[in-house]
Amino acid sequence: MDFKINGGRTLDGKVRAESAKNSVLPIMAAAILADGQTVIKNCPAIADVVNMAKIIESCGVKTEFTGKNLIITPENSADGGFSKEISKSVRTSVLMLGALSAKYGKAIIPYPGGCDIGGRPVDIHIKALKDLGANISEEDGLIVCTEPVKGGKTVLSFPSVGATENAIIAASAADGESVIIGAAKEPEIVDLAEFINLLGGEVEGAGTSVVRVRGVKRLFGREFTPSFDRIEAGTYLIAAAITGGEVEVKGVKPENISALLAKLCDNTCKIKIKNDIIYIRGGRRRKAFSLTTGPYPSFPTDMQAQACALAAVSGGVSVIKESVFRKRFHHIAELNNMGAKARLYGDTAEITGVMKLHGAEVYAHDLRCGAALVLAGLNAEGTTLVKDISHLERGYFRMDEKLAALGADIVRV
Ligand code: EPZ
Repeated sequence: MDFKINGGRTLDGKVRAESAKNSVLPIMAAAILADGQTVIKNCPAIADVVNMAKIIESCGVKTEFTGKNLIITPENSADGGFSKEISKSVRTSVLMLGALSAKYGKAIIPYPGGCDIGGRPVDIHIKALKDLGANISEEDGLIVCTEPVKGGKTVLSFPSVGATENAIIAASAADGESVIIGAAKEPEIVDLAEFINLLGGEVEGAGTSVVRVRGVKRLFGREFTPSFDRIEAGTYLIAAAITGGEVEVKGVKPENISALLAKLCDNTCKIKIKNDIIYIRGGRRRKAFSLTTGPYPSFPTDMQAQACALAAVSGGVSVIKESVFRKRFHHIAELNNMGAKARLYGDTAEITGVMKLHGAEVYAHDLRCGAALVLAGLNAEGTTLVKDISHLERGYFRMDEKLAALGADIVRV
């Protein structure tokens, strides 16, 4: 399946973000610890969520989508699915290490999958769980946990989002108290902690670099609405900027994307904020900007490809440095096929803006590369074919419909 876009139209109107993919996924892993049903509300049925549902179902948990709600009903068997064949289909399969070991005292999981954006090691996950008392070994491509987290202290060598989430989940049902130092501070970590606390857990300090977790004996299923997807929202903000349109994005806490908003202002966008509505008007003469991605609250790596698309049609030379996933530049060659003037020096892209891109047949190598190419197609003169949108569909719910509602000429072919 591909997207066919006839570019050159300005986008105007209102768009609403879904619940954040990167909150929903760890929450699904944590939900298997609860006695009774959990309902995740406003949950997008995107491919990563559907695949994560299959993963937790392989561990004896029932999942069901009713409308926009995802219902998760764990089983209460003593040693259920801790070692069922777990799929590698999504990066967050690694979070089943923390969830299964907390629930069953043991876990056997494969190395995780995920977008091809550079190495996806799990050494920080494994060290954190070991520091917190878990007994973990790596055998024949599997990660084997024979003893759960018991409490303790760990210092993360890098504020890894996934490792922070794995440690919090594993510690939430441990016997003692766990302290995670150097934790990731992303809003999605705050969502996970709020969810676990709603179920009866005791997680403190989420959103800061020191997170304390006191394990509890039982957690109880509840209804929870994750925060909105700041990366999805940011993508639609750039859609307005790259087409010179006027768009209102509803639902996202502006403080969760403040680094992006600052760059959009550098690009000469006009931005107004009213409660949870961000109003953006694309600049008439877009200006180059420079950024370095980094752990929250720095500029998010998940918006780097989209920023490159905007830089490609912004006057002057933009310098975009990627410090989280250093090889996350599959989009550069594709943007150049559309007339961009981008050059790559290791982990840094130097992009000289052009007036307009031209349509071309391009390939969505990964989720955010796909998003960047759709944005470039909205600006380009002529027709752009973004091939293989399966990666895009992992993280964007009905992107074509949302863009068409803003006036874009985009169809699924
Ligand atoms: C999460 O991935 C997100 N995915 C990613 O979003 C996001 O780009 C990333 O955090 C950074 O914000 C989900 O939440 C499902 P990390 P994660 O562990 O947890 C290295 C998207 O587009 N590292 O913070 O895998 C790693 O190689 C996706 O929505 C180790 O070296 O990211 C990377 O260089 C893509 N060892 C850096 O840390 C480890 O054990 C950040 O990784 C773990 C990570």
